[in-house]
Amino acid sequence: MSKKSSQNIADWYKTNGRHELPWRNTQDAYHIYLSEVMLQQTQVKTVLERFYFPFLEKFPSLKTLGEASLDEVLKAWQGLGYYTRAKNLHKTATMVTKLPSDIDTLMTLPGIGKNTAHAIAAFAFHQSVPVMEANVKRILCRTFALQNPTIKELWDKAYDLLDVKNPFEYNQAMMDIGSGICLPKNPKCSVCPLSKICKGKDRPEYYPQKQKKTVPTREQYIMVYRYDDTLSLTQRKGKFLHGLWGFETVDAPLCTAEYLGEVRHVYTHFKLLCKVYVYDESDKTHTHYFSTSQIQNLAISKVDEKILRFF
Ligand code: ADE
Repeated sequence: MSKKSSQNIADWYKTNGRHELPWRNTQDAYHIYLSEVMLQQTQVKTVLERFYFPFLEKFPSLKTLGEASLDEVLKAWQGLGYYTRAKNLHKTATMVTKLPSDIDTLMTLPGIGKNTAHAIAAFAFHQSVPVMEANVKRILCRTFALQNPTIKELWDKAYDLLDVKNPFEYNQAMMDIGSGICLPKNPKCSVCPLSKICKGKDRPEYYPQKQKKTVPTREQYIMVYRYDDTLSLTQRKGKFLHGLWGFETVDAPLCTAEYLGEVRHVYTHFKLLCKVYVYDESDKTHTHYFSTSQIQNLAISKVDEKILRFF
């Protein structure tokens, strides 16, 4: 990038950047790593207001995280969703007590892909590398008028645009421009520090090409077995939501069960529609029963949280 454009971004960041974000005010690589993992699929506001500080209070270092049980970590993650992130974080913490600074070595750790490795290298170790998250991709598509680039093209452009002298500020600025200016709809090009060099500013909504997304709806029957004010839950074993406690999914509800209503939840690749039934048992036929207040101490999914509201 030209010196002038770099200066524009640097100046813009000085006055408009979100300098107060806590992960921008720490040298602790673990804190930065944690923020990046949380921010992969969760908005800044949610991470900041509800999850980042309580998690660090419980697990102040990679060492304490690695020494904790997976159940404890999942519990602290409850509500953030995409629990594979928590499992990988925990697994990494059992493998290392100090994060490596080298991108390729970082990428050998569970859950650290190319994007997260670059973010850790740039933010924790001040390396001259670009970051690449969804908002940054949109900026790159517009700046270089790319409708449907390959991921390699995007990385090449990201390296071209990078301010090699101020990678930390530049990358944080890109995050802020992506979330506050280069918006998917009605971007604020008139106040964008990249507007001088942006090739897509005359028709920003044309870049990148819109993906036609149709996510299927999956329907499920949920049977809640109740015995004397306690509910049966099992710990999930399959790939999906593994390790979390949950209510049982069945092929068909018992005909004597009472229908309670529907619960819906949207995941990335599908929508879930659960029809919820309760069956009052006269004998315990399952292994684990909990009162609703005991369930508060278990890690459960958002869907099961919604189901729990029936009780
Ligand atoms: N999303 C991912 N990393 C971020 C950061 N450092 N600041 C704000 N949003 C982000």
